[in-house]
Order: sequence, then structure tokens, then C-alpha cells
Amino acid sequence: MISLKGKTAVITGASRGIGKAIASTVAGLGVNVVIAARQVEPLIETANELKRKFKVKVLPVSCDVTSLPDLENLVKEAKEEFGKIDILVNNAGVSSQHPFEKQPFEDFERLVHTNYLGYVRLIRLVINDMIERKSGAVINMVSGSTLCDPLPRNFLVYSSLKVGLRAFSKGLFWELRDHGIKITSILPGVTDTDLTGKLKEITGDSSRLMTTEAIENAVKFALTVPANVCPLEIAVINQQTPWTAPVIPYKQAHPGK
Ligand SMILES: NC(=O)c1ccc[n+]([C@@H]2O[C@H](COP(=O)([O-])OP(=O)(O)OC[C@H]3O[C@@H](n4cnc5c(N)ncnc54)[C@H](OP(=O)(O)O)[C@@H]3O)[C@@H](O)[C@H]2O)c1
Repeated sequence: MISLKGKTAVITGASRGIGKAIASTVAGLGVNVVIAARQVEPLIETANELKRKFKVKVLPVSCDVTSLPDLENLVKEAKEEFGKIDILVNNAGVSSQHPFEKQPFEDFERLVHTNYLGYVRLIRLVINDMIERKSGAVINMVSGSTLCDPLPRNFLVYSSLKVGLRAFSKGLFWELRDHGIKITSILPGVTDTDLTGKLKEITGDSSRLMTTEAIENAVKFALTVPANVCPLEIAVINQQTPWTAPVIPYKQAHPGK
């Protein structure tokens, strides 16, 4: 297995949920981690926890991925501390579940800026150094909902942006293929985190939701395959909760009835 010891990873949305789990996995592989999120307190708590558990350096940086100056500062602080960024895990994300006709307008902007633009901008900020070094790995947290056609009800804007992100990631891999950079999309199924709090209520049986463990394994796999291989997409779908009836009951009556 390829050794990642001494490398540096920037992980967004790493103060809780999937991002925090990934930060632990990556730190466990000997990688120094720069963890980013908006709220400082949980970020510092996570940093202290990682420092206690793993023998790596941890730099917490308060960052709102919807802000370009914040993203620029994140990259600047990471490079000042560690010299270079070997791995970028674009993970910060928000959810908004509403029937489209009732979805608040401000949610559209929040979703676009966090779940799509934040990813593309941060990749743009780190990619030229990776191209110059002819190495680097970018992991984008997409969503298992992108496998559904049509997209799941109540998730149209969220999921369609994830479809866009997935398409962008795949295209970027082909565009940068000759530069030795790995671009991987992870497509998690419904996972037990704060983001799915509402789904937990709907599901009524939280044991049907996945834990972050399978996603951590997917990230580990993506980062440790041989240098001449790139796992382009890894879908980690739970057996018991597809994005359809069991999780989101289709109770909506047909308007004609
Ligand atoms: N959970 C699932 O079932 C599931 C399924 C498919 C895909 N995903 C994707 O996986 C990713 C992580 O989801 P999760 O379930 O772990 O969510 P979560 O538990 O709600 O955690 C979200 C993380 O992102 C950070 N964050 C949110 N908005 C941010 C912003 N504007 N700038 C910087 N950080 C921000 C949060 O910290 P602050 O609030 O302090 O900023 C937190 O650390 C998301 O991209 C999500 O779409 C999740």
C-alpha cells in the first residue's frame, strides 16, 4: 500500500459528520491535516481530538467555503504551515429538503455557493501547484442521490447540483489525466450525520442509515491505490435505505386526483 506519511490534506466541513470521520482516517494514515469549517469551537475541539489520537500536525482554519477570500486564506494558511497541499477533500455541504414549489429562495443560493461553487473554486486554487508537481489527489463528496433518475423528490436542487459536481469531477479527471492528478467522486448513500437529522425522523428507524465507516474506507482506498490508477467514482450505497420510498415516502397525491 502506498504510504501517505508526512503528506498534507485540506479537508473542508471537517468539524463533524463525514468530514470529521475522513480527517480521522487520513490522520491515521500519518497525513498532516488542515481542517476547515465555519464554527470555530467545534473545529478546535476536533483539532484537539485529532492531535490527541494521532501523531500528526493538525491546523484548524475557520473558513466559509461560500467566500472566495476565506478559501484563499485557507490555501494560504495551509501552504504557510506545510509548504504544499497534496490532498484536497472537498466535503463541506448543506442540505435543503422541500417540495420545489415551497423551497425558500435563499436556499438556492446557499446550496449553489456551498455545494458547488465552493468546491470548484477551491480546486481552482490548489490545482496549479498540483499540476506543477505532477501529483495530487482531489476527493469530492458527491451523493448517491445522483444515481437516481428521476432525482429524489424534495431534493431536486441539492441533487441536481451534485449531478453537476459529479459531471465536473469526471470531466476534470480527463482534462488533467496527463498531469498525474487523481480526481475521485464519492457518492455516499444516506449516512447518519447532522445533515440527515430530518431523514432520521422520516425513516423512523435510524439503524437503517449507514455510519461513516464505509465512506472512510472508500477515501482510504482512493488515496492508497497504485500511482498509475485513479478511482474515478466510488458509490457507497446502504443496502436498506435507497433514496426512494423507505426513506422518503411518496405520499404526495397526484394533483389530478
Ligand atoms: N449525510 C448524508 O447522508 C450524505 C449523503 C450524501 C452526500 N453527503 C455529502 O457529504 C458532505 C458532508 O455531509 P455531512 O452529512 O457530514 O454533513 P454535516 O454533518 O452537516 O457536516 C457538515 C460540515 O460542513 C461544514 N459546513 C457547512 N457549511 C459550510 C460552509 N459554508 N463553509 C465551511 N464549512 C461548512 C459544517 O461545519 P460548520 O457548520 O461549522 O461550517 C460541518 O463541518 C456534504 O457535502 C453532503 O452533501 C452526505
